[in-house]
Amino acid sequence: MAVKILMVCLGNICRSPLAEGILASKLPKNKFTVDSAGTGSWHIGHSPDKRSIAIAKKNNLDISQQKGRQFKTTDFDTFDYIYVMDSSNYNDVIKLAKNPEDIAKVKMILNELFPNENVDVPDPYYGTTNGFDLVYKMLDEACNNIAQKLTTKHI
Ligand code: 4NP
Repeated sequence: MAVKILMVCLGNICRSPLAEGILASKLPKNKFTVDSAGTGSWHIGHSPDKRSIAIAKKNNLDISQQKGRQFKTTDFDTFDYIYVMDSSNYNDVIKLAKNPEDIAKVKMILNELFPNENVDVPDPYYGTTNGFDLVYKMLDEACNNIAQKLTTKHI
């Protein structure tokens, strides 16, 4: 059975769609499934933000077909690994956990680059295009480490 990874942010239109597309591109599709969700409900059914689609395209990734959805408690059962973008996402997700096993699945994504530092991926929604470049670079580097770890562990 495929190993399942979920990327979580607030809106599921800026950061987590990028994280989903980037990580999926680094893992073999027959062994891993990558999805994303938002803790908020504003963007259910929406396409990713145009600026996320554009920065992905610049890096040869097509995330335009993704659709926003909200994180739900059953995601703890469906997914093996849950990566959140910032500490506020972490708190919102943990509130829905049923047991310590659920909590153990949730990691701050940039801890893959800066262990135990709990650095946030900044929310680029209200900023400039520049913010999306920075977010892309951070996520790309974090996903390199995640892909390496997961392939070593599961293949
Ligand atoms: P994201 O960015 O969490 O990276 O998808 C946001 C997008 C939209 C909103 C907040 C954050 N919003 O409040 O609509």
